[in-house]
Amino acid sequence: MARKTIIAGNWKMNLLPLQGEELALGLKEGLVNKPNLEVVIIPQTALIPLAQDWVMDCGMQLGAQNCSNNLSGAYTGENSPELLRAFGCTYCLVGHSERREIFNESNEFIGQKAQTLISMNITPIVCVGESLEERESNKHIDKILGQIQAVFDQVDQEGWSKMVFAYEPIWAIGTGKTASKEQANEIHQIIRQHIIKIAGESAGKSASILYGGSAKPGNAKELLNQSDIDGLLVGGASLKVEDFSKIIEAF
Ligand code: PGA
Repeated sequence: MARKTIIAGNWKMNLLPLQGEELALGLKEGLVNKPNLEVVIIPQTALIPLAQDWVMDCGMQLGAQNCSNNLSGAYTGENSPELLRAFGCTYCLVGHSERREIFNESNEFIGQKAQTLISMNITPIVCVGESLEERESNKHIDKILGQIQAVFDQVDQEGWSKMVFAYEPIWAIGTGKTASKEQANEIHQIIRQHIIKIAGESAGKSASILYGGSAKPGNAKELLNQSDIDGLLVGGASLKVEDFSKIIEAF
């Protein structure tokens, strides 16, 4: 089965409504219909009801940056995957390193979020990746596979083929220091083999695995050309129409 290529822009905690609209409409203008490519914008939660209009009728998908592990209830300040679905989100990030590090989210909690999203028919983009220290002490593979395993532990078997993964080495996020195409592809292959081991051949082979960490117009093509890199999760460069459009064109 051909894997879907996904190019997703994680806007993080940036952009006010007018700026978001300008960016989304600018992207929309240059969007050419490429079969097998999914372009996703991921604004902060309060922009999502507005963004539903911005992506209308252009095939662009809407994603959220985070969600609750519950569908409703007494969880002040949280956002329900049910609400995200009602506003048209088809993707949601879980386990971004900023959530793991700044907000102390555990592997188990991230796995629960993935399961709740799948129950609402939203595709979780499960982010994994190592710190510089872990890479330098050769602990990166154990770290990444542990993060992947923990998610499969929380997700029901029917959900095993419904997840997307993003390898984002922490040392490459927002630093301008991208993993080399070889470094990234190697980890993607290891992740895929692990998914095959846990969830079977078909789930592993059909899982889209994105790369994130200083992806930009200048390196998008070489990353996308790798055998096991099925898309990009873009932070900084997704905030400028010109840069994000060039990344999309690189596919
Ligand atoms: P960056 O962020 O492209 O700015 O490095 C990527 C991310 O955090 O998802």
